[in-house]
Amino acid sequence: MILVVGGAGYVGSHLVKELVEKEKVVVLDNLSTGFKSLIDDRAVFVEGDLGNRSVLDEVFSTYPIKAVMHFAANSLVGESVENPYKYYENNVSATLTLLKAMVDHNVKNFIFSSTAATYGTPNVDLIDEGQPNNPINPYGKTKLMVEHILEDFSAAYGLNYVVLRYFNVAGAHHSGTIGESHDPETHLIPIILQHLLGQREEISVFGTDYNTPDGTCIRDYIHATDLANAHILALEALLEEKKKTAIYNLGNGNGFSVKEVIETCEQVTERTATIQYVERRAGDPAKLVASSEKIQAELGWEPKFSLTDIIESAWNWHRQTVLSKQV
Ligand code: UFG
Repeated sequence: MILVVGGAGYVGSHLVKELVEKEKVVVLDNLSTGFKSLIDDRAVFVEGDLGNRSVLDEVFSTYPIKAVMHFAANSLVGESVENPYKYYENNVSATLTLLKAMVDHNVKNFIFSSTAATYGTPNVDLIDEGQPNNPINPYGKTKLMVEHILEDFSAAYGLNYVVLRYFNVAGAHHSGTIGESHDPETHLIPIILQHLLGQREEISVFGTDYNTPDGTCIRDYIHATDLANAHILALEALLEEKKKTAIYNLGNGNGFSVKEVIETCEQVTERTATIQYVERRAGDPAKLVASSEKIQAELGWEPKFSLTDIIESAWNWHRQTVLSKQV
C-alpha cells in the first residue's frame, strides 16, 4: 500500500486518481486546505495531521505501507513571506515527525513534493538540477530544508527518496471531476478563469518592470496529470530499486509571461479580461523555466500537455463547477 499524505489537495488528488489504477492507496489529510470530495473513492481516507505522531503510528501499524508520497504543505510564496512561522511549522517540523515515524516503522521509500522556489533567482534560460539553491522566500527555504533532512536521513537510516521540484502546476483532470481550487485563490490561471467567468471584477498583474521581454514574470506551467505521472515513475524507480536517491525538476521547458498566460486564457475562452497593473508581489522571482531533461533521460517521463491544453482543461472544470453551483 502507498500512503499519500495530502491526497485531498489539488496536486495530491490528481496523483491519487492515477495511482489507484496501480496500487492500493491510503490518504492522510487534515483537510486544512484540501477537500474530501477530491479524493478518489477507491482510496482509504484517514483524517488527521501529519505532525501528529500517534495518528502516524496508527496508520503505519494498520496498513502495510511500502512508500510514502508527501504533498501536505503550505505552498504560497506571498503568504510564506507574511507568516513564516506557519511554513516552518507545517512544512519542516511536521515533515520531520513524518520522516521519524517512517524510520521507526521501517518504511524506506519517500517521494517529496519540492519546488522550483529552491533555486531563488537563477540567471539562466533553463534551470537544471545543478543550479545552486538560493531560495528568496520562506516557502522555498522550507522545502530546501526538507531536502537536506532527506539527504542526512538517507545516509544515516537508509531512507530512499525522490525529490520532485515542481514548477507551476495547473490544469484539471480530463474526467472533469477534480481541478484546482484553493481558498483564498492566489494562483494565476484559476484567478484569470474565475474573472472570465464573472466571479472576480478584474485581474491584477503583479509587476511590469521585471527584466523580461514584456516586463511581467515568466513561469513554466505543467499539467497536474503530467506531474502525477512523474510521481508514479518515481515510485516505480524506488520500489524496483533502480534509484536510491534522486532530485528531478518537473516542468514543460517553456516559459510564459503573465501577459501571455492572460492572452492564452482569452483565446481559449473567447472572452476579454479587464486587467489592472499593480506593484510587484513580495518573493516573486522574474523567471523560472525548467530543464526536465534529467527525469526524461533517467525515468522516461514526458510531459504531454501544452499551456493551451492546461488552460482548456482548467476552463472546462471551472465552468462545470460554476454551473453545478447554479443548479
Ligand atoms: N500573478 C499575478 N496576478 C495574480 C496571481 C499571480 O500577476 O493575481 C503572477 C505572480 O506574480 C507570478 C505568476 O503570476 O509572477 C504566477 O503566480 P502564481 O501565484 O500562480 O504561482 P507562483 O509562481 O507564485 O508559485 C507557484 C507555486 C509555488 C511554486 C512556484 C514555482 O504556488 O508553490 O510556482 O514556480 F514554488
